[in-house]
Amino acid sequence: MKGILLAGGSGTRLHPMTLAASKQLLPVYDKPMVYYPLSTLMLAGIQDIMLISTPEDLPQFKRLLGDGSRFSVRFEYAVQPKPDGIAQAFLIGRDWLGGEACALALGDNLIHADHLSTLLQAAAARPVGASVFAYQVRDPERYGVVSFDANGKAIEVVEKPTAPTSNWAITGLYFYDKHVSDIARQIKPSARGELEITDLNRVYLEMSTLNVEKLSRGCAWLDAGTPDSLLQAATFVQTIQSRTGMLVGCPEEVAYRMGYIDAGRLRHHAMHLGKTDLGRALLELAEGEVE
Ligand code: TTP
Repeated sequence: MKGILLAGGSGTRLHPMTLAASKQLLPVYDKPMVYYPLSTLMLAGIQDIMLISTPEDLPQFKRLLGDGSRFSVRFEYAVQPKPDGIAQAFLIGRDWLGGEACALALGDNLIHADHLSTLLQAAAARPVGASVFAYQVRDPERYGVVSFDANGKAIEVVEKPTAPTSNWAITGLYFYDKHVSDIARQIKPSARGELEITDLNRVYLEMSTLNVEKLSRGCAWLDAGTPDSLLQAATFVQTIQSRTGMLVGCPEEVAYRMGYIDAGRLRHHAMHLGKTDLGRALLELAEGEVE
């Protein structure tokens, strides 16, 4: 399975911070925002990743991430000329995907949960259909919303409903089978002129192949698209890291835990981060001082 990291958009809700900088490169506590969804894709076992961003911002992502060899992943870069919708990612990535199954992670979403890699790898291993994750929120009208029948079966998906019939939002992490690029081609732009990911999900729902996994209360899902949620995400990461000593959203750590890089390479990356707390934490991991 391949993965797409979508890091374009206009970031208008973060103006003026995003007038001259990409939203997904803004710091979330001690790392650039894009590190969090990148770590999520890597935890799913994905090592072929296409990063899509705006023509102006793409060079900065290349500068930050390079060819991916630091994390033992392979990066491909592509431009989205205009923010014409999330589902457009599969048209931009069509040739690169070459008919393979694909996961999509939004560049401003952070998911943190117990046994996350097990959950993600199960979704990645499903050969047919799509898998999405639903999370209970207080403000469902901001998101794609999924409703369930009495048996817990997903029956409806609606993008930013004015009168939501459920408070289950669909998170910015999606797994699709090999038909995704063909299905994305059939989607028509919505009233706001975007190729909506919710319309893509609806096609899978209508084929009875949309698997919706409810994330439990113990999971955290944050998007960092507004000043408040950006600050909340940073505070969340700081709290978990300083309280437990565990890192959140660190691709070097994930590469090591997934067995992509050995302790020697992890130590090398840790040294590169110098005297930062992050560097120290990675060094301790490499030297076997933490589990
Ligand atoms: P949004 O938060 O819906 O949009 P945005 O980032 O443009 O921000 P705002 O609403 O403040 O103007 O996008 C969710 C994610 O998807 C985000 O990481 C940006 C990305 N995205 C694209 O890369 N291309 C697109 O065409 C769209 C709509 C979003």
